[in-house]
Amino acid sequence: MNIIIKSSIDIEKMRLSGRLAAEVLEMIARHIKPGVSTEELNTICHNYITQVQDAIPAPLGYKGFPKSICTSVNDVVCHGIPNNALKLRSGDIINIDVTVIKNGLYADTSKMFFVGKPTVLGQRLCQVTQKSLYLAIRMIKPGLRLRDIGRSIQKFVEHANFSVVREYCGHGTGKFFHEPPHVLHYDADDDNCVLQSGMTLTIEPMVNTGSRHVFTDQNDGWTVKTRDHSLSAQYEHTIAVTNSGCEVLTLRDEECFPEVITHANL
Ligand code: MF3
Ligand code: CO
Ligand code: CO
Repeated sequence: MNIIIKSSIDIEKMRLSGRLAAEVLEMIARHIKPGVSTEELNTICHNYITQVQDAIPAPLGYKGFPKSICTSVNDVVCHGIPNNALKLRSGDIINIDVTVIKNGLYADTSKMFFVGKPTVLGQRLCQVTQKSLYLAIRMIKPGLRLRDIGRSIQKFVEHANFSVVREYCGHGTGKFFHEPPHVLHYDADDDNCVLQSGMTLTIEPMVNTGSRHVFTDQNDGWTVKTRDHSLSAQYEHTIAVTNSGCEVLTLRDEECFPEVITHANL
């Protein structure tokens, strides 16, 4: 499958890329309120990444994607395109997905934001989705079967009576936006892929309150929505596999989660 193993120099560079990507999500938080358009959020992030961070927003121009971040509101699963017409309303949930390139290395991360007052269902969906990401990260160590990640996420999500999107997955990242392997968020064949130290990958479960099925907007060719228009949430981190566990390269200050996880018997 030709997974690219990163040197400690590459990982050090990815720590910086990861911190920058996380800082974009921290920076944008105060701008998320009723009445703001997703285009405005895009402009703020674009200017911050290019002018303050001296980095590159990877989505811009990627396979023709027209903006610098993805903004996915309510029933949008992923790849929402920022636009002027879409103004946030109280009760909305929005995923902002940021990928930056700094010194040639990528980091990819996303989180959910509540607009104004959150709904009970929106809040529960986001909490379950973030927990599914966290439980997966806690498993990461050399020797782990890739398949075990997806199985655990699916089990947890379905136990909460939500569903896991199957059409999109996590991925290796670092030298390129998307590298092997595919990191599925449900139980399926993984070609016997086993994690090893120096791998860097994303985990980014997409979870729906309704059925798992999705469709792509044929007008823009990008926006992915739930088929039944139920709510969808996603959280994403870029992670490095270490000798003893893993390191979360895109951790934010607000998160109650360890940056480095060490498994005792490794
Ligand atoms: N950031 C997304 C991911 O997690 C990919 C976005 S591709 C884009 O892999 F073109 F829509 F930006
Ligand atoms: Co990703
Ligand atoms: Co992403």
